[in-house]
Amino acid sequence: MDNAATTQRAKSVVAAQSQFDLYENANIHRGIYDLSNQATQKFENTRTKIAQFLSSNNANTVAFTQGTTASINIVAQSFLAPKLKFGDNIVTTIMEHHANFIPWQMLAQKYQIELRIVPMDKNGDLDLIQLKSLIDRKTQLLAVSHISNTLGTIHPIDEIIGIAKSSEIPVLVDAAQSACHFEIGVDPLNCDFLTFSGHKMFGPFGVGILQVSEKYVEDMIPYNFGGGIIENVQIKKTNFRNFPHNLDAGTPNVSGVIGLAAALKFISEIGKSNMESHINKLTLLALDQLSQVSGIEIIGNPKKRIGIISFNLKNIHPHDVASFLNKDGIALRAGTHCTQPLLSAMGLHATARVSFSIYNNEEDINTLIVSLKELMKFWS
Ligand SMILES: Cc1ncc(COP(=O)(O)O)c(C=O)c1O
Repeated sequence: MDNAATTQRAKSVVAAQSQFDLYENANIHRGIYDLSNQATQKFENTRTKIAQFLSSNNANTVAFTQGTTASINIVAQSFLAPKLKFGDNIVTTIMEHHANFIPWQMLAQKYQIELRIVPMDKNGDLDLIQLKSLIDRKTQLLAVSHISNTLGTIHPIDEIIGIAKSSEIPVLVDAAQSACHFEIGVDPLNCDFLTFSGHKMFGPFGVGILQVSEKYVEDMIPYNFGGGIIENVQIKKTNFRNFPHNLDAGTPNVSGVIGLAAALKFISEIGKSNMESHINKLTLLALDQLSQVSGIEIIGNPKKRIGIISFNLKNIHPHDVASFLNKDGIALRAGTHCTQPLLSAMGLHATARVSFSIYNNEEDINTLIVSLKELMKFWS
């Protein structure tokens, strides 16, 4: 029950990667020989498949990265840093994962600009009235997640993007927790940057996506230099390729990208709406059952939530909860979930968190509840 941290890998993903690793392995974009050409073709075909998964027919809006964290840092260094001027501001929210918080904080410190933080209410919903008042002509980016990895809040992403777009502010959506469940992409969401990680959607570690809207692809300049991103190099000058081929200097994670394509196929075959409804059912059942455990506090009560529930037990540290449950074979996360600003805003140091995926079932929830009740008896 720690699927917000990472999901289990689909067998078809492992099979696709093994096929490449064992029989088709070659570096891409370099060789003249068949094996290398085939690897290049497979890699680039994957870009097209990923664009389709994002409801786009333009594969050149899709860059491969090492994951969500890497994608967000790329937007910070490649797109945003070169534009920043004294007096500018960046808007993000108190509910972000550190991956969608620290890169903006670092830019704000380096360029002496303002980082504006959208607050939330005690239920774990963002304050959209504050969002409206924080955005102005000097806002260079709004960075927001689709789903909170700590509270499971599904943010009203259309409304949030609409607010920024009415002032023509570029928007980055961190879709790390939503890519499995909802239709995403810069076109369907009308945002400008969209990021997710393969390992949170049945795919491999170390691979993810940055999609950029056509409006801003030309603003993505190389930030990391080396082979693979160049048109030509002379002693005094280098000419670079265009986005997305100007970002991934060096050899990319070819096998990981092939595994990611298999993961997207796996998701499409099951169907995002089937996944969403299964996880929704488990979330509602877990909320109901958890609320009957004595001494429990469920953290937040957002208007819309999916798949993720944080809670605390009276007088028991979340690490002790996780260790106790571990003896019953229950894997749940305890700690800050890389969201210290969110927890501080709620006056908390840590929580225990369950997060569901498609292979969880009602029996898992029963086991969790029995174990929690036993813990409460043991502790009292
Ligand atoms: C909402 C959110 N954003 C970003 C990340 C970072 O993802 P990664 O570690 O794959 O880069 C996570 C990981 O938990 C997350 O939940």
